[in-house]
This record gives sequence, structure tokens and C-alpha cells, in this order.
Amino acid sequence: MPLIIKDEYPEKLFREDGKRLDGRKENELRPIKMEVGVIKNADGSAYLEWGNNKIFAAVYGPRDVHPHHLAKPDRGILRVFYRMTTYSVFERKKPAPGRREKEISMVIADCLRPVLFLELYPSTSFEVFIEVMDADGGTRCASTTVAALALADAGIPMRSLVSSVAIGKIDGKIIVDLSGIEDKAGEADLPCAITWFNEEISLLQFDGDMNLKEMNESLDLAKDALKLIHEKQNEALKCKYIEIQKEEEKNSQENDNGGVDLK
Ligand code: CDP
Repeated sequence: MPLIIKDEYPEKLFREDGKRLDGRKENELRPIKMEVGVIKNADGSAYLEWGNNKIFAAVYGPRDVHPHHLAKPDRGILRVFYRMTTYSVFERKKPAPGRREKEISMVIADCLRPVLFLELYPSTSFEVFIEVMDADGGTRCASTTVAALALADAGIPMRSLVSSVAIGKIDGKIIVDLSGIEDKAGEADLPCAITWFNEEISLLQFDGDMNLKEMNESLDLAKDALKLIHEKQNEALKCKYIEIQKEEEKNSQENDNGGVDLK
């Protein structure tokens, strides 16, 4: 499925067979792949491919606060830096962070803060650096999801993971997980996120036109999609520890054999 080419939006966002332009059903997510521990120099990291989106998140913390005047004597602070690379979208994006990136960084930080025990880390900072390498709609949700995973990978105590997805409306129908073209040409976009420890919504933004019935339908669809995303996050974390366990077993076998590979 091609990425968006400006001003070339199709008139219809459903095909004749009733499927969406990329072949999905209304309640279907794009393919999602996640991996943790992908950046050696960070305390924690994760990589996510979600449809055409490709996003890295790297975490440092707890560590000293820079600039120092931002430090809070009674708690740690969480700072999020969401950035889209210049080549991540069809039209060259200016390298300097714009208003959109600052806003998205802020909403992701607000959304992740409730799951951290910041009160246990006075005068320190946790920093999350998010790099969107390829963007195709829903990057704030994908970034929130991958950032939560990177925090968990860093071994930072968390009340739970956070998962996020956008629900939208295209050609009068409510759909899950808008692609870039559906985001631009559709009628509504409702990114949301959930903190699993209390099952509360920690992000809810809205752009477009929906009635109350459609809004309720959207939140119902979001619940099912968020559960699937949460499962994938857990799988990605487990995968890392299964690999570590295998490595440990291999090392201890080698030690039992006097460190010599007998094969
Ligand atoms: O990515 P998200 O849906 O969270 O945020 P958005 O501001 O609604 O942007 C929707 C999509 O527009 C992005 O995912 C990109 O694919 C695209 N976009 C773009 O082409 N150029 C930009 N400067 C910003 C966004």
C-alpha cells in the first residue's frame, strides 16, 4: 500500500468488495511486529513496525536531570522526545522539531506518567527518545506503545504497560487503526491509550465529526484492539527473556564441559 501523496486522496476509502483500501476489515489492525533490547547503549529500547510505520524508542534513566533546574526534589521527571525523521514522510520534513512533535511528545509523556513510580526517584529523570523512521498514520499511538515497551525493557518499575490505538470514521463507518490515507481523507480520528493497571484511558484526542453513538462504538472497538496490542507487547518482552534463558543454558552447558565445545 503506497504512502500518502499530497492532494491525491481517493474519493472512496472502501473497495467494491467492502474491504478498506489496504484490504482490511473495519475492525482489523495493520500487521504489528515488536522487539525489545534493540539499542545496546540505551538502558532500554524497543522497535516497532506497525503497517508502514517504523519506530524506535530508547530510554535512559533514572539519571541526573539536565538542565538541572528542571529537577524536582520530591520526585523524578519523565521527558519524552518524539521526532519524525526528515525522510519519514512523503514531503521532506524540516529537521528541527515542530509544534506537532512537541505536542505529541507532551501527550505521550502525560499518557505514560501514571504507570511510573516517579515519587520513588527524587531529583532524577527518565528520558524516552522516539524516532519515527517511516510514518503512515497513527504514529502517536504506535510511539506510545513502543515507548511503554522500552521503559519495561529498561527494567524501570511500572504499574503496567500502556497500549494505544486510533479509531476513526471513513465513509460513514467506524474503523480501527487508521492508515495515513484514512487519517487524511477520513471524517474523524480518535487516538486513545489505556493504562492496564487501572484500565483507565490515559490518552483521548479527537479530530473530526462523530455522534455519541459512533463515539461509544469507537470506544468498544478500541477495547478489543487494545487487548490485542497488549498481548503483542507482552510477547515481545517474553521473547527477550526466553532468548536470555536459552543463552544462559548454553553457557552453563559449556562451563560443565570445561568451557570446551565438544561438538
Ligand atoms: O501520526 P499521527 O496520526 O499520530 O499524527 P497526525 O498529525 O494525525 O499525522 C497523521 C499522518 O500524517 C502521520 O502519521 C504521517 O503519515 C502524516 N504526516 C505527514 O505526512 N507529514 C507531516 N509533517 C506530519 C504527518
